[in-house]
Amino acid sequence: MISYPDRNDIIQRMYDHGQEHIFIFWEQLSDNEKKALLDDAASIDFDLLSRLYRQASESTHAVMGFEPAPYIPVPSGNEEIRRFDAAREDGIALVRKGAVAAFVVAGGQGSRLGFDGPKGLFRVGPVSGKSLFQIHAEKILSSSKKYGASIPWLIMTSQANHEDTVRYLAAHRHFGLDEKDVHIFPQGMIPSLDTGGRLILESPSAIFKNPDGHGGSLGALSESGTLAAMRERGIEIISYFQVDNPLISIIDPVFIGFHAQGGADISSKGLMKAYPDEKIGVFVRFDNGTVGVVEYSDLPEQLQNMRDASGALRFCMGSIAIHLFGVGFLEKITGGSAVSLPFHVARKKITTRTATAPAEIEGFKFEKFVFDALPLTDKNIVLETIREVEFAPVKNPSGVDSVESAHELMTRLYRRWLGERGIGIPSRLKKIEISPLLALEASDIPDSISIPDSESVYLE
Ligand code: UD1
Repeated sequence: MISYPDRNDIIQRMYDHGQEHIFIFWEQLSDNEKKALLDDAASIDFDLLSRLYRQASESTHAVMGFEPAPYIPVPSGNEEIRRFDAAREDGIALVRKGAVAAFVVAGGQGSRLGFDGPKGLFRVGPVSGKSLFQIHAEKILSSSKKYGASIPWLIMTSQANHEDTVRYLAAHRHFGLDEKDVHIFPQGMIPSLDTGGRLILESPSAIFKNPDGHGGSLGALSESGTLAAMRERGIEIISYFQVDNPLISIIDPVFIGFHAQGGADISSKGLMKAYPDEKIGVFVRFDNGTVGVVEYSDLPEQLQNMRDASGALRFCMGSIAIHLFGVGFLEKITGGSAVSLPFHVARKKITTRTATAPAEIEGFKFEKFVFDALPLTDKNIVLETIREVEFAPVKNPSGVDSVESAHELMTRLYRRWLGERGIGIPSRLKKIEISPLLALEASDIPDSISIPDSESVYLE
């Protein structure tokens, strides 16, 4: 057995758990590298990992029975419209008193888009070429001006992109937001395992770990001290969204109003699935009465395709990862006797750099999903939203859910806004973009605006 002054207990622990292969390059490591590897080893939670490996090795996992979850549909009659107006009033009052913060999960990299860097830096403005981060920042700034309140922006990064994100936002002066209102913190990491349950070396002196999933955001909020800072400044509701959706309405008074009126712990937005195997999770009510999301990969094909008497999909309400969290609820689930969210297992290719050329091996990655907090609520609300108004995920380099489809959806929405306001559009117009600093919704567009006669128009 190898040894190192004062750290032999850590080394012994690795041998006891059959993980001594992590020391295979020991003799070649510098003193600092040895210390780094031992620090890494000391952080391993073997109880958790052996539980997760058992979970990964079981071929099936039991999912409780469920039915579709109830939801508040898009309003149609006058009475419903009045309910929505009342919710909007209540929501505006909460934003005005400074009780709402915005929270983006941005741990992901742009690799699936062929972009080397944090996904938030990816440029998606159809005309302006603005990045996802810029669009989000400007929406928050614009809401804060519109409602005369400061709105903190919380950003969860990952180890891989934290420094780049901090540097980018500082270089752009946080796009006009007060630096004191921008809280950036990284999420946790968890080791991956090979198919035999062994730790994997990422390099000769580091154990391979992956970010702990967007479900890790709730623990990271608390552990970074951000949740306490939000409580301190009177925040009651945290508006959560994913970095990859440029159409997100970050501060939505109607949504906030329904959440507050319903006394909800979490509220979520949903939309009608476009087709049965669309890659979005669905809202369900489990047999024990709790509401949750069943991820698309876990919904059996027969249930995906099941239709009701009217021909509509039975599990129609898709989750687009937009939630409001009550601060009190987050304190409860992340506090002393916190209930930890479960990990999900994904079998994936993992790159190790222990030889001169990187090699790929099969392994298990473990991630938490934020929607697993839903079953922990006493009260929650699902509000239907309209796809065209609020969902343009940028996930793929081309085709479905790509930057092209997002450009098209953004152009379509801005055209619709101008149409609603009776503002004429030149017939040759192909692309239009409206800056969030000019308008967050159709009614914000000034009457005096005129649209230049061009194929490509940017209104700011
Ligand atoms: C996700 C949802 C799906 C939803 C869809 C909507 C899951 C498992 N699936 O799918 O139900 O309908 O989005 O677009 O949630 N992230 C982190 N840290 C992590 C992992 C992810 O910050 O460790 C962030 C990413 O930066 C991104 C978001 O979470 O903003 C979504 O991650 P992604 O892996 O793209 O989820 P999808 O599988 O596309």
